[in-house]
Amino acid sequence: KALIIDFGSQVTQLIARRLRESGVYCEIHPYNKADAGFIKAYGPKAIILSGSPSSVPKAGSPRADAFVFEAGVPVLGICYGQQIMMEQLGGKVESGHHAEFGRAHISLKAQSRLFKDMFGPEDNQTEEVWMSHGDRVTKMADGFEIIAVSENAPLAVVADETRNFYGTQFHPEVVHTPRGAQMLKNFVHDIAGMTGDWTMAAFREEAVKAIREQVGDGKVICGLSGGVDSSVAAVLLHEAIGEQLTCVFVDTGLMRHGEADEVVTLFKDHYNIPLVHVDAGDIFFKGLDGVSDPEKKRKFIGGAFIDIFEAEAKKVGGADFLAQGTLYPDVIESVSFDGSNAVTIKSHHNVGGLPARMKMKLVEPLRELFKDEVRELGRELGLPEAFVGRHPFPGPGLAIRIPGEVTRERVKVLQLADAIYLDEIRKAGLYDKIWQAFAVLLPVQTVGVMGDERTYDNVLALRAVNSTDGMTADYYPYDHSFLGRCATRIINEVRGVNRVVYDITSKPPGTIEWE
Ligand code: XMP
Repeated sequence: KALIIDFGSQVTQLIARRLRESGVYCEIHPYNKADAGFIKAYGPKAIILSGSPSSVPKAGSPRADAFVFEAGVPVLGICYGQQIMMEQLGGKVESGHHAEFGRAHISLKAQSRLFKDMFGPEDNQTEEVWMSHGDRVTKMADGFEIIAVSENAPLAVVADETRNFYGTQFHPEVVHTPRGAQMLKNFVHDIAGMTGDWTMAAFREEAVKAIREQVGDGKVICGLSGGVDSSVAAVLLHEAIGEQLTCVFVDTGLMRHGEADEVVTLFKDHYNIPLVHVDAGDIFFKGLDGVSDPEKKRKFIGGAFIDIFEAEAKKVGGADFLAQGTLYPDVIESVSFDGSNAVTIKSHHNVGGLPARMKMKLVEPLRELFKDEVRELGRELGLPEAFVGRHPFPGPGLAIRIPGEVTRERVKVLQLADAIYLDEIRKAGLYDKIWQAFAVLLPVQTVGVMGDERTYDNVLALRAVNSTDGMTADYYPYDHSFLGRCATRIINEVRGVNRVVYDITSKPPGTIEWE
């Protein structure tokens, strides 16, 4: 396995993605935790130093533990990582030269194993790369040579082939460096000698073993939300411990049209996994009666979910473990330099409050995986493609897509309209090109005319965004004809909607959900 030491770059996670895509397992750890003791215990076969928003010449800026360069394994420094490597090994880094941001070209100066299958004659021995730096190395450390240059970075790539230390000023992990993935693969495969045998099939086998070891003959309870993560976790757990697992599906009545049934069918018929299906719609609609404040909705739904789940767990006869579909991005400790306190924009609903209240140990079999890897594992476990590829769906469900008061009638209207919208998206072949698409039923009525009749009905907003992690998002640029088709169908087929609008707000300043 490889170790990525994080200095706070926005794109550190992408390094991990690229390595894993090349079949190499790796973990990201913050620089201030990666000391000699940690590195020895972790036992990496290669170390990568990430970029950083900090600046090497600035007093107090972070450095790698000296042991990184004494561990006897190949080291690759990227951007800031290259600069501290140079400085810590006796070179010099300065600010105030030409900064380089964006696309640049590097040309080959010396052959290196780092460049296998790169710099072909057809490319005139150059490669397109993505630069983003203000500082640069002005004096190389001893033992290094320049193996590639760019116009503004004479030390674009440096190498000490004896010690297997490499440094690149550009970012190989981003897609804007077209052959960056190849370079990272060369580093871990050819230079560090890793074989690239980390696949989802291998992960599945190891995860099953690890679950059995952790759980022993204890009982595990797993809350299903209907989403991909908890479903994949449940199927994996069932493979590992069979009857020791109980799945509880709290059906809030706030899911999309048909999705609750899909979950029940998937578990009962497809996998034959016993499922406690709690039809809790009445409780949720009663509790939401008269509530229109978004935070109050969220708090109520989160709390009620935990109450119901806890009650069901008791009925099962006490469990020793609680299973959760926690993913790697939730686990990675982030490096922060500004010490700013995060503001609560929305209270997210997840079952995070459960473990403390239920005094159970946690089983989190997906905590090393990224979202797309979870989907891959789902396919490996035989989950249907339509299920695995689902768009993200928020825990509070349709309640936060109905600004104002939530009633059964309004949920029904939204479910129908949303189903038509998604049907059109699928028909147009757009579902997999969009991160998340949904409809929002507004508490606004407008006048319309249908046939010779006056109507006075609800406005429905359509939303679709592209995003990589939900933190930022751009609205999806549909063709107008597509939007027109959706509007016509929805207004014709759904009673209660007489006007459709499209939300063109990106995040920030908007959020993806409306509440
Ligand atoms: P926002 O609206 O904050 O949403 O831009 C970002 C992403 O998170 C999803 N979301 C949630 N997911 N529980 C969840 O599990 C929640 O309470 C919740 N609220 C929002 C949202 O759908 C989007 O993908």
